[in-house]
Amino acid sequence: MREKLALFLAKYMHLEKGDVENIIEIPPSHDLGDYAFPCFFLAKLQKKNPGEIAGDIVKKIQNKLPKEFERAEANGPYVNFFLNNKLLAENTIKQVLKEKDKYGSSNEGKGKTIVVEMSSPNIAKTFSVGHLRSTIIGNSLSKIFSFKGYKVVKINYLGDWGTQFGKLIAAYKRWGKETELKKYPIDYLLKLYVEFHEKAKTNKSLEDEARSWFKELEDGNKEALNLWKRFRELSIKEFKKTYGILDIDFDDYSGESFYEVSANKIIDKLRKKRLIKESEGALIVGLDSYGLGAALIRKKDGAKLYLTRDIAAAIDRYNKYKFNKMIYEVGKEQTLHFKQLFKILEIAGYKWSKQCVHVAHGLYLDKNGKKLATREGKIFAMENLLKEATLKAFNIIQEKNPGLRNKDKVAEIVGIGAIIYGDLKNERTRDAVFELDRFISFEGNTGPYLQYSYARASSIIRKSKKSPLRIGHRETQRTGPFHSPFHRASELDSTKALQLDRTIHDLNESEIKLAKKIALFPSIVDDALKGFYPSLLANYAYELAQIFNEFYHLVPVIESVEESFRLALINAFCHTIKNALALLGIKTLEEM
Ligand code: ARG
Repeated sequence: MREKLALFLAKYMHLEKGDVENIIEIPPSHDLGDYAFPCFFLAKLQKKNPGEIAGDIVKKIQNKLPKEFERAEANGPYVNFFLNNKLLAENTIKQVLKEKDKYGSSNEGKGKTIVVEMSSPNIAKTFSVGHLRSTIIGNSLSKIFSFKGYKVVKINYLGDWGTQFGKLIAAYKRWGKETELKKYPIDYLLKLYVEFHEKAKTNKSLEDEARSWFKELEDGNKEALNLWKRFRELSIKEFKKTYGILDIDFDDYSGESFYEVSANKIIDKLRKKRLIKESEGALIVGLDSYGLGAALIRKKDGAKLYLTRDIAAAIDRYNKYKFNKMIYEVGKEQTLHFKQLFKILEIAGYKWSKQCVHVAHGLYLDKNGKKLATREGKIFAMENLLKEATLKAFNIIQEKNPGLRNKDKVAEIVGIGAIIYGDLKNERTRDAVFELDRFISFEGNTGPYLQYSYARASSIIRKSKKSPLRIGHRETQRTGPFHSPFHRASELDSTKALQLDRTIHDLNESEIKLAKKIALFPSIVDDALKGFYPSLLANYAYELAQIFNEFYHLVPVIESVEESFRLALINAFCHTIKNALALLGIKTLEEM
């Protein structure tokens, strides 16, 4: 609409469309219209005061406005433009009911590939809340890019290599128990790891033993490799359970171990390009001139590092996927690491390094503002957390709606949704407070509140004996099968043709507000994609739900004269909030 208005004004005033678009403002309050055109800059040119100019413009264009605009008004130095709300509402509803789960999508990304590296937990160090953030945010970004037509490749870059494996092997060989490992692989490996550190405090030889096991591993010792493989496979199996609960999958599980060998080639390559210096026996890339210090590439003892493997991984991924963008969804404490990585790729001549982005997130804090995950084994076990959320949701549902069918399944969807939303409502770069009880509440800015709004809207549609207004058709009585909690809203409207041959009533303010908010959805999707900010969609969904609930509170639907139109509007709301939540990775329920 803004573009349309800019085009129109530019033509009438012989200005550049882009310039006009840039200066058009959104007025601070509704009674000042939907858009405002400030006239200050014309004052000098026309040697008149801006107020006069605004008046002139209105006189000139009033009868020639594009049909989407109802009128223009001069107000001081501004020309205010009022949208034709009826037309806007009609068009929006028509569009949503036609596009349904595609509403807001596009194919702008057709032919382009986005690599999203996300989650990337470390074996034997449990899945921390930091990894949960990466998983949730990365998953949402993947969905947003797919929705806009991009091909998305999701990579889980497992921390499956490094000196910790020397420690694990040493510990396992000394006091490990096969049966325990089989029963709770991740917890048990973590336990071994923690125990190792405790015992190493008094037993100095343990560290040496670990170092030498890691060396064996690097050199391909069979026993070491076999143990490593088992640790890895058992851990992945466990991780996959968590991903299953979250309904997240990956295209690729190539972790750090995958790049151990090619990291050698990288060192040769950098050497040939004269980018490597020796420093006290270690190899470094000097990045001082970029303010990035010295990047350690190989340690004195010959061990290659996290950074070296990352260089190898980036190059391999580019060769494999020819990505247009590669997103690393990783905590912001690794900012320097990624700056160094991208800079090394750049000075080594990889032009695509510009297409790599570190999409960083902040920490999770507890109620007291303390960091939630720590190194000493005080780590959140993900599966337990998800179970706890589900249980809490179950208890609330049991109280609110004891007769509901499939309560277990519903509770899982609500519990998981609560955690996902609790994360995504925060601007990702900020630290966020993790408070399960608040996340799970059915009131306030929470996932369950949004799901509940959707369920409420669905129930209105179910209760009505009419079908949503098929604009251009005779209204019909709906005789359909009863709908289970898992039926989709789209099944409720068989709305096909939507020509307008029946004018709708004059809309009231609540209807207009809701329709306008719905109309905004596609532009929110665009903004979320551009800045990698799922929080924009989360906040939008919350505002949308609030506006819907306000509407429903104020405006009668069932048995009202405008029942059919309002059902159509509610239906459009259902599709929109469902799409928004789906992009966050949150499921909706017809009943809860
Ligand atoms: N496994 C790492 C960690 O938990 C995160 C990996 C981030 N990705 C990367 N390409 N370095 O800290």
